This record gives sequence, structure tokens and C-alpha cells, in this order.
Amino acid sequence: MRIQGKRVLVTGGTAGIGWALSRALLGRSARVFICGRDPARLDHALEHLPGAVGSVCDLGHREGMAELLEDCAAELGGLDILINNAGIQQSLDFTNGIAGTPEMLESIGREIAVNLTGPIQLTWLALPHLARGDEPAVVNVTSILAYVPRASSPVYCATKAALRSITASLRSQLDPLGIRAVDLVPPLVDTAMTQGRDEGKKLSADEFARSALAGLEAEQDCILVGRAKQASWLARLAPALLARKLSGDTG
Ligand SMILES: NC(=O)c1ccc[n+]([C@@H]2O[C@H](COP(=O)([O-])OP(=O)(O)OC[C@H]3O[C@@H](n4cnc5c(N)ncnc54)[C@H](OP(=O)(O)O)[C@@H]3O)[C@@H](O)[C@H]2O)c1
Repeated sequence: MRIQGKRVLVTGGTAGIGWALSRALLGRSARVFICGRDPARLDHALEHLPGAVGSVCDLGHREGMAELLEDCAAELGGLDILINNAGIQQSLDFTNGIAGTPEMLESIGREIAVNLTGPIQLTWLALPHLARGDEPAVVNVTSILAYVPRASSPVYCATKAALRSITASLRSQLDPLGIRAVDLVPPLVDTAMTQGRDEGKKLSADEFARSALAGLEAEQDCILVGRAKQASWLARLAPALLARKLSGDTG
């Protein structure tokens, strides 16, 4: 696949992995549209991504998704690659539920909406655009935690495992349309999401983005970056060992 000239929507392109992916895509002469919830963060990101365009959109709600895609397709003249990158991770202790806080229930629904329902609905709505695209692809950013969950963020891990699963189903369904479905699996990457965790083990977001684009160009269905490669093997051969290794880190 050639990255040059591709029209790409990067959700959550205003920070972290999404920002680094956007910058790397622009560096390869792709055309990039980004979105995020926070208008100030969007403006700041666009200032530092010359050539990119974008708009505010909260992907935790269905409203606004069709408009986002229309804006993106109008600005870029179409859409070739959708990167479902926006995500949130919350620590959640179910034993706190015994005290019964309505806020916890809200936050559980929100995490599922942003990490899972949002990417599924956005993909569905993007298909008419992608079907007209050049070497079209949907790229879902999952996680090592899709393979083996970490106890402290149970809903997050479940959403990533489900996103990984639906990516495999989409691969079969979209193949006749010529649309690729790609599972992009980061290791522990240095972003706001992983602040304060296991500093020595983190990959920089720029290094991650370089490897991710190399995997896209090589037309890999599952792009396992850095330690994610080793983790995918351990998940099959020694899942208990991997669970112990992951208990203290990763996103
Ligand atoms: N960092 C890691 O080690 C790691 C590892 C595995 C997987 N991942 C995955 O990689 C993706 C990016 O993570 P990150 O580490 O770069 O996180 P991050 O630094 O926290 O950035 C998250 C991005 O998503 C946007 N976002 C969050 N909620 C949104 C919503 N409801 N609607 C639209 N945009 C939203 C944020 O912008 P606003 O806040 O302005 O909305 C921001 O641009 C996530 O899917 C994450 O699960 C990360």
C-alpha cells in the first residue's frame, strides 16, 4: 500500500498516538483529518500539524458522526483510510460497586461507547466513503490487553478484546469490497494515557507511528508493534505469565 496521497481520518488525532500517527502520515504526503472532543486541544494540534484539517467530535455519541465523515470527505475530497484510534482507559474496582455510585455506572457506559460502540458505528457510517476510496482500509487501534486482560481496568480490556474480535469479522465481510480491516496493536506507548507507568519500558509515540505505517505499507492484517509481538506469542503459549507481566503496565 502507498501512503502518499491517501486521505486519512484519524480519530483522537489531537494527542498521543493519534497525533504521532497524523504527523507521520503527513510526513509521507498523506492528507489528514483529525478529531477530538476538546476544541482548544484540536486547535493546538492543528497548529503543530501543518497541512492537516479537523473538527471537534465526541465519538462517545452517535450524533455528529455522519457530519464528521461528511466534513472529512469534503475537506479531503474522499476517504481512503479510517483510523479508529480515540480511546479512554479507566481504572475500575468492582468491589466499590457495593457502595453503589451512579457515576461509576455512567463511566462504564462511556468507556464502552468511546472504545467500542463508537468505532463500530463510525466504521458502518464510513463504508460508503471507503467503498469509493483508493486501497481503502479501516484500522482499529486495539491493545496487548485485548489478548490478556489486566485486572485494574476490566472494562477497557473487554472493549479492546471486542474491538479485536470485530476487526477479524470485518476482515472477512469487507474483503469482497476491497476494504482491508487492520488490527493495530500498540505496546506500552508514552502518552497521557500511560503517564506515571513503567517509564523504562515505554516506546515513544513517534517510534510507534513509524512502525505502524511500515506495517500498513507492508499490508499486514495485524500490526504488532514492539513488545506487542512477544505478547501475542506469550498469550498463546503462557497466558498466565503474560498476565503477570502486564499486571503493572500498558495501555
Ligand atoms: N498509550 C498506550 O500505551 C496504548 C497502548 C495500547 C493501546 N492504546 C490505544 O491507543 C489509542 C490512543 O491512546 P493514547 O495513549 O494516545 O491516548 P491519549 O494520549 O489519552 O489520547 C487520546 C485521544 O483520543 C481523544 N478522545 C478521547 N475520547 C474521545 C471521544 N469521546 N471522542 C473523540 N476523541 C476522543 C483525545 O482527545 P480529547 O480528550 O480532546 O477528546 C485524544 O486525542 C487508544 O485507543 C488507546 O486505547 C494506547
